[in-house]
Amino acid sequence: MTHSIVVLAGDGVGPEVSAQAVRVLEAVSSRANLGLEFEAALLGGAAIDAVGHPLPDETLAACKAASAVFLGAVGGPKWDTAPVEIRPEVGLLGLRKELGLFANLRPIKTIPALAAVSPLKNERLEGVDILVVRELTGGIYFGKRARSGSAAFDTCEYTVGEIERVCRAAARLARSRRGKITSIDKFNVLDTSRLWRETATRVFRSEFPDLEVEHLLVDAAAMHLLSRPADFDVMVTENMFGDILTDEASMLAGSMGLLPSASLGDGGPGLYEPIHGSAPDIAGQDAANPCGAILSAAMLLRHSCGADEAALAVEAAVDAVLGAGIRTRDIASAGQTAFGTTAFGQAVLERLAL
Ligand code: IPM
Ligand code: MG
Repeated sequence: MTHSIVVLAGDGVGPEVSAQAVRVLEAVSSRANLGLEFEAALLGGAAIDAVGHPLPDETLAACKAASAVFLGAVGGPKWDTAPVEIRPEVGLLGLRKELGLFANLRPIKTIPALAAVSPLKNERLEGVDILVVRELTGGIYFGKRARSGSAAFDTCEYTVGEIERVCRAAARLARSRRGKITSIDKFNVLDTSRLWRETATRVFRSEFPDLEVEHLLVDAAAMHLLSRPADFDVMVTENMFGDILTDEASMLAGSMGLLPSASLGDGGPGLYEPIHGSAPDIAGQDAANPCGAILSAAMLLRHSCGADEAALAVEAAVDAVLGAGIRTRDIASAGQTAFGTTAFGQAVLERLAL
């Protein structure tokens, strides 16, 4: 069986980290006989430069026909003056929407070898293993918006159906983990959050009575993430809250560069991308941390290829590299010589036990 993977390297450090992820996937494919086939396509600023639109029709068609999509990163100051309708980010949001990728899985696990890299006290970090499930195709990112003169508005809308499906996806994942789910909203202020809490409560009570359920307001959740991070298992929340909380949570692991994500819908191709951005300040220097990208490749193997063993092998190889003290610049200690993006990818390949 073959799996066709569309690779959207994107902008900034996107191509550099994607190259390492693809290298690892190629090695896995030949060793485990997975039949992965890669096809490159344009997204974001790279697509604006080439064809004048951040999500060209050919890219969308290729992604829809693929088994999975791998994405590096999009955006950068070069396109800050582009009209809002064709900013690089519009390409990514359009792709998420068009592929129906409503559930964005962002795992955050502290790696013992990196405890010193996190700004948090080490005793708080012990046992942190969180999976944030961020709703990805609704909310304020996709609501009506307008600007006129000195005023502007963005609207946040959710339907019961949108809330139900992401809560179910998160609850199923909680069942396969430690059985706890924390739903996050702003129930004391927002109508969308009142609908969210009502719907989440009903879905969990009627369909997942075996789970331990907790509801938190988003401001409190931001605090609890730092004061008791090890208490969380699965966290489920709406689009913008999830965006903000996962950047905060990345500091538990130590660097944005470490974290992967998978965006899934109802069947159809999944989209896999590190949670970091295009980091234009270090683009082209072979300095970006490819861990988030390589671990996103592991998620691709798990969720789109059914290759769990291969996914575990990739994750173990990354752990082994970090355990051996190999560091990219973002996680290196003072005075330590940092590995470049390519050398780090090579180190992962060398430890791939498949
Ligand atoms: C993310 C990013 C995106 C988002 C941007 C690039 C549109 O911050 O994936 O977290 O806000 O969803
Ligand atoms: Mg973000």
